Amino acid sequence: MMVIKNAAQILTLTGKELGIIKNDSLSIKDDKITSVNHRTSNIRHQKSIDARGCIIMPGFVDCHTHLVFAGSRENEFAMRLEGKTYKEVLVAGGGILQTVATTRKASEKELIKLAQKRIDELIRWGTTTVEIKSGYGLDTPTELKILKVIKTLQNVNKDRITIIPTFLGAHAIPARIKKANYIHKLISEMIPLVAKENLAQFCDVFCENFVFNAQESKKILLAGKKFGLIPKIHADEIESSGGAEKAGEIGAISAEHLLYPSNKGLNMMKRKDVVAVLLPGTTLFLKSKQIPPIEMMRKLGITIALGSDYNPGTCMIYQMPIIIALGCLLYNMSLIEAIRGATINGAKALGLDKKIGTIETGKNADLLILDIPDYRHIPYQFGKSLIKTVIKHGKIIYSRNTYC
Ligand code: NIG
Ligand code: FE
Repeated sequence: MMVIKNAAQILTLTGKELGIIKNDSLSIKDDKITSVNHRTSNIRHQKSIDARGCIIMPGFVDCHTHLVFAGSRENEFAMRLEGKTYKEVLVAGGGILQTVATTRKASEKELIKLAQKRIDELIRWGTTTVEIKSGYGLDTPTELKILKVIKTLQNVNKDRITIIPTFLGAHAIPARIKKANYIHKLISEMIPLVAKENLAQFCDVFCENFVFNAQESKKILLAGKKFGLIPKIHADEIESSGGAEKAGEIGAISAEHLLYPSNKGLNMMKRKDVVAVLLPGTTLFLKSKQIPPIEMMRKLGITIALGSDYNPGTCMIYQMPIIIALGCLLYNMSLIEAIRGATINGAKALGLDKKIGTIETGKNADLLILDIPDYRHIPYQFGKSLIKTVIKHGKIIYSRNTYC
């Protein structure tokens, strides 16, 4: 049994807001939260942590990353600074295809080493659950190689971070193969193999008119669904392409990016309770002026989650406190919406909201202690790591000495 005592604020995230409890304690037994109230301080316990002047909140859930890759794309970033757009680079054979070339060449061992460093950084910044997509292979052996790397990372890090794998073979059209043939390969060869080897939980598609259009995306996602892979979709990121409509139509668990969704699409998403995963780090990185229609999403009551989109092309930002700040500063989200987006709503985008994302009895003890006395410091102290302690499955896995 472990008790964390005297926290200035506990953000339970229960209810519709932050569910703040002041000057209180919580207790943990094994890997679960056993109670959240002052009575716990009287119970005999083996270990106690003093969180005076600090806040306790659930670990961050980063529900959208592409963090297994080799190489980097600073050339493309520089081109964007000179005025080229993401689409121009991609259709000219750069972008994703550049990372595909370097990732194909890298061995499994090299990819593990590169990704492990990124995961260690994520943990230091308070992420306790992360989704990772494949998608830099675009052929059967490399897509399987990436998913096997994700599986190894999952096993090696199982006491430190929960890793959720997504198959994103439909991330771009590989060079020297016709789109129709690649779609056929995805459906008849890759998806069945991924499912047979139990390498992914979700299937995702980059739905854009110039990549996989709405009809093609639907075909791929339904094929995945037939094999037990739950659909997710990169929807309406660069242009309005009918992605939000398809998310609603096929009942995807989430639709991601959503800079240009139609009102009809958003209504269809709401009807099927599809989570909107927003990625403000990418908007900053791409110098996009467009933001998602937050007002409309709010009005419809769509669940909004936040992810980092950590990838070498469109967002190298992986720090969830920074993503929360960008949600507020770029997307006009309230701080309550942004914090919920990075915890409980991110958990919902991964189908894990019954287990993680809030602080309540029976939930997994994936917790953070931040050395700030009030949650409003999170965006205010932009770029500063405020994480003092990370607790995963009830055990301290990271701790930084501070003057808290
Ligand atoms: O979410 N949009 C597609 N996929 C990534 C970008 C990947 C890349 O450019 O390497 C995204 O932004
Ligand atoms: Fe993405």
